Amino acid sequence: SGPALPPRAAADIPVIAHRGASEDVPEHTLAAYESALLQGADGLECDVRLTADMHLVCVHDRRVNRTSNGRGVVSTLELAQLRQLDFGSWKQPAPGAEGPGAAYVEYPDLRREGAHRVLTLERLLELVVDHPRRVELAIETKHPTRYAGLVEEHLVALLDRFGLAHPRLGERSPVRVMSFSALSVRRIRRLAPSLETVLLLDRVPLRFRDGSLPRGVRIAGPGIHILRTHPEYVERLHSLGNRVHVWTVDQASDIDLCVELGVDAIISNRPKAVLARLGRD
Ligand code: G3P
Ligand code: CA
Repeated sequence: SGPALPPRAAADIPVIAHRGASEDVPEHTLAAYESALLQGADGLECDVRLTADMHLVCVHDRRVNRTSNGRGVVSTLELAQLRQLDFGSWKQPAPGAEGPGAAYVEYPDLRREGAHRVLTLERLLELVVDHPRRVELAIETKHPTRYAGLVEEHLVALLDRFGLAHPRLGERSPVRVMSFSALSVRRIRRLAPSLETVLLLDRVPLRFRDGSLPRGVRIAGPGIHILRTHPEYVERLHSLGNRVHVWTVDQASDIDLCVELGVDAIISNRPKAVLARLGRD
């Protein structure tokens, strides 16, 4: 553990766009991430999976069925096959809205050819490093299944190509790796010891209920549902020098709870709404 951390002031809480600005724009597409940056998000969150031919792509589910016009398990499809699919048309405008989502009206370029095709992690990294301001990228490895260990190896190798895997002492990579799997986090730590890692939590783990975390991990990623019932958990984590990145915070009352508790990052499908609530619009 490290020195205790104070609760963070509202104006200093980074807002991380969950799957991009995914309330308005189809999740995990270039359009969703560009939209999030246009809205002023401080960072982006994405889930990564390996294709059959070992490309890392940004897809949440094991299958492409929900978020594209195709069918099948991501890990059994090749990138060229995924590139044929449309990852945009499944998403309908929010109920009550007429025509395309507000984001598209404001930024018609989001509709351009290619902005709703499968997004490779490589392309997302380009977006991050080419952006004029510093953008954080929180990459989530999904539960290791078919390609146990390979996801982490390919991920660190790709980050290395961008010079992002091994920040030197005193430097901070804009990238951090998150997982619900302690094993996946451990693998990342072994391959890239100076990269920040986040242990995602969907309940307060018995073993770590005092606010401690596995060795080398300094950030906890609790779901907002945990903080609704265990708000004291934030102070416990802070008291041991650990930071708290909370997902997925979309409702006004939840944003207010995060502010009250002084969390260290808010991950939201609605970055614009969170920024406004934090007084940063
Ligand atoms: O940011 C963490 C959060 O994304 C975890 O849940 O299912 O949306 O990936 P999920
Ligand atoms: Ca995720």
